[in-house]
Order: sequence, then C-alpha cells, then structure tokens
Amino acid sequence: MLAWGCHVSLIVMDGWTYHDPVFEHTLPGAWGGHRRFGYDLVRNLRPGRILELGVCWGISFFAFCQAVKDAGLGTELWAVDTWEGDEHTGRYGPEIFEGFESVRRGSFPALEVRTLRTGFDEARRRFEGRTDILHLDGCHTYEAARHDYETWADAVAADGVILFHDVAERGGSFGVHRLWDELRPRFQTVTFEHSHGLGVLFKSPRFADPARVEEEWRARYATTRGPETG
Ligand SMILES: C[S@@+](CC[C@H](N)C(=O)[O-])C[C@H]1O[C@@H](n2cnc3c(N)ncnc32)[C@H](O)[C@@H]1O
Repeated sequence: MLAWGCHVSLIVMDGWTYHDPVFEHTLPGAWGGHRRFGYDLVRNLRPGRILELGVCWGISFFAFCQAVKDAGLGTELWAVDTWEGDEHTGRYGPEIFEGFESVRRGSFPALEVRTLRTGFDEARRRFEGRTDILHLDGCHTYEAARHDYETWADAVAADGVILFHDVAERGGSFGVHRLWDELRPRFQTVTFEHSHGLGVLFKSPRFADPARVEEEWRARYATTRGPETG
C-alpha cells in the first residue's frame, strides 16, 4: 500500500495497492504494456461490471479477467467485438475469435463473461444498466472513437472509469489523441504515453491532486518488458 500524502478516494478504498500479477495469457501486442495497470485498476476498484469495446485476441480483456480471478470477484465482464477486424487491424478470419474462446474456456471458465459478437451500436441497444469500467479500443480514427465515446458514455456509472487506448498514436488516420485532447480539460484524467498511449478518464473527480497520481502511476507503470511490449 502506498501513502499518497493526499486523500485518494477510489470507489471503495483510500489508497492504491500495487500487485505483481502472473498472467496466464501472454501474447505480444499493442496493449501489452498496460496490462499491469489494467490489472491493478480492477484489483483496486473491484468493479461490478467491466465492458470492453474491441477485444480481438483479448490482451486487455484477459488482463482484467486475471484480476477478477485472482481477487475472487463476481464481476461481470462484457466482451464486444464483431471479431472481423477494422480499418486499423485489417480484416481477419474466425481464428481470432476461436483463439479468444480457447483462452477464456481454458483459463477463465468460472468467470461471468458475456460475449457479444456484434457491432458496437447493436450491442448498445442490447446493453442495459451501467458499467463501472468501460474500455474503448475499437477503430482508432477520430470519428469512430468519438462516435463510440458518445454512444457509450452514458452506460458508465457516475463514478465509473473510461479507458481509451492509442491516445499517443498520431500517425496515419489514428485520431484518438484528438478526442483525448477534447476530453482532458473536462475531467480528471491520467495519460500514459507508452504502448501507444492509454487515457484514463474518471467521470467524477477522485483525487485531491490528480497531477501527483499521474506522476506516481507513470513512474510505476510506464515500463514495458519482455513479451508485454507492444
Ligand atoms: C485494436 S483491436 C482490439 C485490441 C484488444 N483490446 C487487445 O487488447 O488486443 C480493435 C477491435 O475492435 C473491433 N471493432 C472495431 N470497430 C468495431 C465496431 N464498430 N463494432 C464491433 N467491433 C469493432 C475489431 O474487430 C477489432 O478486433
């Protein structure tokens, strides 16, 4: 447990615990460098529900699953993807969904995983209630990221967290960084620049000193190593 020197209120706790997880599922990929943060986010927030838009092989999704499993939580984990690919991943075949399912069945059979193999807009029509953590990792053009954010923001609990991958990617048609620049002034946020960038948005203020939290988390998580590197 780390003492911040300021009051930190994260849904159910007054502090932040760092873990040293052993991931049962390891693949190199763009999200790899964020797995330890994603894991700790779930361990610390103990969310009732997590929803991910853009799952693909499951690098991020299984980091969340690992935390839920290790902590013995009853969290619902929603995985939404056509599992067909997009402008940035390219189109892909059924082997990726089959690989995802194989890991889910092999390592996380007891977890409450809800898989929606459909478009995000269709999933929004079928999703009721609120999620505590939303991870946006679909197509990374500005228009697509903004559309996904605007379509799903109200599905997040008032004290929930929204994660945006690729906020540091500025090449080609990548435009999540533009959306992130628009949102940052309106919310408490933490920005990781490594592994293509991860934006962490808190719908309601949580920190007395958000800059201090960002500095601390960057120092702790902004490293990539071995097969995690993306
Ligand atoms: C960058 S990948 C996700 C990576 C994943 N989070 C990880 O950690 O490896 C983006 C995924 O979003 C899916 N996708 C993009 N736009 C979508 C949409 N509108 N509806 C459903 N799936 C979509 C693609 O099929 C692709 O698998």
